[in-house]
Amino acid sequence: MIPPYVTTTHGALFSADCLQILKELKSGCVDTVFADPPFNIGKDYKNGYNDRVSHSEYMKWCREWILECCRVVKPGGAFFLYATPELAVQFAPIMGESLDFRNWIALTMKGTYPRGNRLYPAHYALLYYSRGTPKVFNKLRLPIETCRHCGKEIRDYGGHRNKMNPDGVNLSDFWTDTSPNRHKKFKVRPGVNELKLTIPERAVLISTNPGDMVFDPFGGGGSTYQAAERNERNWIGVERYDAAHIQKRLSEEFPFSVFKAPQFNLEELFTRENQQHQVLRRIEGEGVSARPGAYIS
Ligand SMILES: C[S@@+](CC[C@H](N)C(=O)[O-])C[C@H]1O[C@@H](n2cnc3c(N)ncnc32)[C@H](O)[C@@H]1O
Repeated sequence: MIPPYVTTTHGALFSADCLQILKELKSGCVDTVFADPPFNIGKDYKNGYNDRVSHSEYMKWCREWILECCRVVKPGGAFFLYATPELAVQFAPIMGESLDFRNWIALTMKGTYPRGNRLYPAHYALLYYSRGTPKVFNKLRLPIETCRHCGKEIRDYGGHRNKMNPDGVNLSDFWTDTSPNRHKKFKVRPGVNELKLTIPERAVLISTNPGDMVFDPFGGGGSTYQAAERNERNWIGVERYDAAHIQKRLSEEFPFSVFKAPQFNLEELFTRENQQHQVLRRIEGEGVSARPGAYIS
């Protein structure tokens, strides 16, 4: 196991290639995987990542990390994969090789534009698969929708409003409140499309309980790790190009948790063969910061 870049009481972030970390993780050690990969559309991530390779090269790489992500999901665990519909239809059969389909969640996408002779794209897909029957399925509710101008309720629920659950309506597979943070002031890393926290947070809340393990192979701005940390889920994260922004976000959000040793046994998640190369000893009582060698062999 390579040393983590930073740890918190609930998590460990690796500055590495996700495939390197995935290959070292034991099979069935994660309750939920949440992945928001680069889409190979030539996006400038402002961190050196090349987001335009041939489609076949991209799909070969995707197949590899998707299968690895499936492998690490526990029985009853979940895998959420965020993608454009065009990519989602190609990812779904790969996930389906070992997991079971649960939902195609459509998330409204604002600010897109019509392309060629296709319909105007207005949603992204969040594929939700599980390994067999879900071990955890928490039913989330949304507050009853009100007009943001007058504050009145928008719908009359066919005259059955008085029979509605006071905690709100059941979350459906159509999310209209999750458009990405486009405004600069809401972004951790300007120029990078971070997901609205609600997206990974819902995935985490639906499919895990406190103390469960969440894995996200593509850190980006660190939204999944923030969602996990604040809901007391343990997490493992990876970002190949720029982990410093994630550390900054975590330090701002969880000043008392960052640089602490994780409350779970990190080494236990990794394969024995790799541990034989590097037997890890934790520096007494301390977590890990961006210092190399905070874990020593
Ligand atoms: C779409 S962004 C993820 C955004 C994240 N979900 C958020 O809300 O902030 C994808 C990220 O994956 C990173 N990345 C690309 N290839 C990677 C690899 N092989 N291993 C780890 N991270 C990688 C990119 O640098 C980028 O930050």
